[in-house]
Parts: sequence; structure tokens; C-alpha cells
Amino acid sequence: MKKPWSGRFTEKTDDLVEKFTESVSFDWRLWPYDIKGSIAHVRMLARTGLISRADAGLIVKGLQEIESDIRAGRFRWRLELEDVHMNIEASLIERIGPAGGKLHTARSRNDQIALDLRLFLRDETKGIIKALSGLLRGLLRLAKGHLDTIMPGYTHLQRAQPVSLAHHLTAYAGMFLRDRERYEDALKRINTLPLGACALAGTTLRTDREYLAKVLRFDRIAENSMDAVSDRDFVVEFISASALFMMHASRMAEEFVLWSTEEFSFLQLPDAYTTGSSIMPQKKNPDVAELIRGKTGRVYGNLVSILTLMKGLPLAYNRDMQEDKIPLFDTVDTVKAVLQVLKPLITKARFRKDRMRKALLGGYILATDIAEYLVGKGMPFRDAHEVTGRVVRYAIESERELYELTIQELREFSELFDEDLMEMLSIEDSVRRRNSLGGTAPEEVRRQIEEMEALL
Ligand code: ARG
Repeated sequence: MKKPWSGRFTEKTDDLVEKFTESVSFDWRLWPYDIKGSIAHVRMLARTGLISRADAGLIVKGLQEIESDIRAGRFRWRLELEDVHMNIEASLIERIGPAGGKLHTARSRNDQIALDLRLFLRDETKGIIKALSGLLRGLLRLAKGHLDTIMPGYTHLQRAQPVSLAHHLTAYAGMFLRDRERYEDALKRINTLPLGACALAGTTLRTDREYLAKVLRFDRIAENSMDAVSDRDFVVEFISASALFMMHASRMAEEFVLWSTEEFSFLQLPDAYTTGSSIMPQKKNPDVAELIRGKTGRVYGNLVSILTLMKGLPLAYNRDMQEDKIPLFDTVDTVKAVLQVLKPLITKARFRKDRMRKALLGGYILATDIAEYLVGKGMPFRDAHEVTGRVVRYAIESERELYELTIQELREFSELFDEDLMEMLSIEDSVRRRNSLGGTAPEEVRRQIEEMEALL
């Protein structure tokens, strides 16, 4: 098949080169956006008088036919036509004849691909924002039901202070909320019209970029035509926001793996979201959570890949940029797949309050409360820390919990200890009293949850 650019060539493209340079094997999926962009372009050409209304009508009809053929799986993508753009254009000319040759007036594949990518990414980003909102709603609803479920909070993976499960889950909600903000922010810059920049320098022909922006619903126009065809920042931003989202999802997945172990048993994963072993009959493995963790590495790779791809490119378009689609598509697909499984994985897990309760024992988890008690009685915090440390050592040596020590014993360490200490040494009290802004007290966590819900 004759290539649209064959005019200045005398030799046929080598088969190897065709295979090496083609992108249609992966960029074909941009077809809905390519056709949408072409229809807007052709209407603009008719408005400014560059082509006749009759030709424009023919082209739009031809493009619509191509659209329904692709949808029905009747369209034959040809490798020798390189990419999605030339496949569609060649098919158009085949269908409607010479009028089809007017579609590419005042346009280049350089602004065309930038347009397709932005239209594609605008749709996908909106979908991801919606899915993230759904995840957040599920997570916050779950948290609300666990305001009084108390578990150990950890630092260094060592029991630190009691917290509520609601507080722990809401920490992730905060991360996902920021992820949503990042996608929304990226969307502002994604939603910029590059079409009309042409190859790099604009055009001598009369075009109307404002009209294009209006019908394609872009908020801004990429004004500098060289910037318009060279810019892939919006791809980097999207993948970067995705890398952060994946990092958060991965941390949560890791905790689900840990919490579902026999050793922790803080939760049971739903059967439908685990898999068995081909050799060990007793196994129920947290593969979904593990793969969320694993796929995070791929998305990080995609970020490094796009950054490296772009870093040495002179202006304006370079063919290297064709490779941007591979990390971008992979990121979009991975993030969407993770969002699909993450919500049910979280909301269908069965949390085991009894096991969390048990884990609160034996770790001297209320030591900080004792130090704060002494501070309340006027002791400088550093001294209170030291005294409490000695109390803990004494309890360890006498193999008892803190609440098993008598006031007489405690008074050996400080005169400030009094009967009122004992009523403070309950886990519930410890949590209830941590009502500083952002703290783990139920009323405070409820306030955080309700504020986040209002943002949704
Ligand atoms: N397939 C190309 C890409 O994805 C489209 C732009 C080609 N432009 C060019 N001057 N060869 O980047």
C-alpha cells in the first residue's frame, strides 16, 4: 500500500524498518480520539472556508463509517501504514476518494498525536478520579464502623500506642484524597488544546484554534506551536501522580498481607480475593494484595522510562516520542485494575477485633500515658520519660503488666503517683483522651472522616 508520504522516495521502505517503526500495534486504541479530533478539525476547515461544506460532509460521514467498522471489529489495521492516524486517513481516502485527501489540511501528525493523547488521558483521568472517589467512600464508611475498634499502632513495626482501626484506615483515606487532588491538578494541564500547532511552526492557512478548543471542550490552548507538539509534561505528571497512588496502595496491600498472616490474624481476606497453593492444601494466599504491591514497581519503571525518554530531546517533535504510549498505556491499565480490586479487597475483609485486642496486651503500650500523667502533675517531660522507663523495666523484671503494679510500688519511683492513675490505665481511656487535633480519640477521628466525606 502506498504511503501518504511516499512522494520524495524512490525506494520502498525495508520490511524490517516497517516493523521497527510502526506504532499501530499499540496506538490503535487511540482511534476514538483520533476520529473525534478529525471530525472537529474538518468542521473547522469548512468554517474557515479551507474546504467546501460538501467535502466536509463527505469526510465526516466517511469517518463515522470507519468508526462503526472499528467498533464492529471489521476494520483491518495495516502495519505498513505505521500508526493509527495513517490507517484511518488511508481508509477514508479509500472510501470517499480525493475529498478524503483534504482532511490533513493545516494539520500534522505531530499536533494530531498530541491531541489524541490529551483526549485519551482526559477521559482516563476522569475515570480514575471517579474510581478513587468510590474507593474513598468505601474506605470512610468502613472506618466509621470501627471508631471503637482498638488495635496497637506501630512504629518500627513494634507496638507503640493504642489507636483505633478507624484512625488507621483514615490515614490511608488521607493519602488517597491527596492522590485524587493530584489527578485533578494534572487534569487542568492535560486539558489543553495542541491541535493547530501543525508540524511545529503553525500554518499559512486560515485556521480557528478557538473554535477547536470550544468544540473539543478544552479549557486552554497550547499557544506556542513548538511547545504544543514537544510537550509531554502532562504524561509525566499523570504517571507521577499514578506512582504516588501506587505507593499508597502498595503500603496498604503490604499491611493486608501482614495482617492476614496467622501471626497477626488482624483480618481475614475474602475467599474470592485469595488463591490457593498447588501443593500445600491448607494455604490461602493474599495474591491480590501481593500483586498490587508488585505492580507498583512497573509504574515506577514507567515514570523513569518517560522521564528518560524526554530528557535529551531537542525541540520540536522527535520520533522517540512515539515510545511515550507504552509506559502511559501500561500505567493507565495498571492503575485502573488496581482501583477495581482494591475497594472490594478492603471492604470485604473481615477485621478480627478479638485478635487486635489481644495484641494490645504485653507490650507496655500505655507507657506514654504514664509519662503524660506525670507531666500532668508538673514533672518535666524528660524526667517523666526516665521515671516511666524505670517503671517499665521493673514491670518486665517482675513479669507483670503496668496495671498490675500497686500504687505503693509505683510511689517508689515517684511521689506524684496517686490513685487517679489507675483509672487512666485502661486502653479505652488512653484512646479517648488522645483528642488533640488529628488524634486517635473517636470524636476526633469521626470529625476527620466527616470532613473528608464532605470533600467527596
Ligand atoms: N506515531 C507517531 C507518534 O506516536 C505519530 C507522530 C508521527 N510524526 C512524525 N513526524 N513521524 O509519535
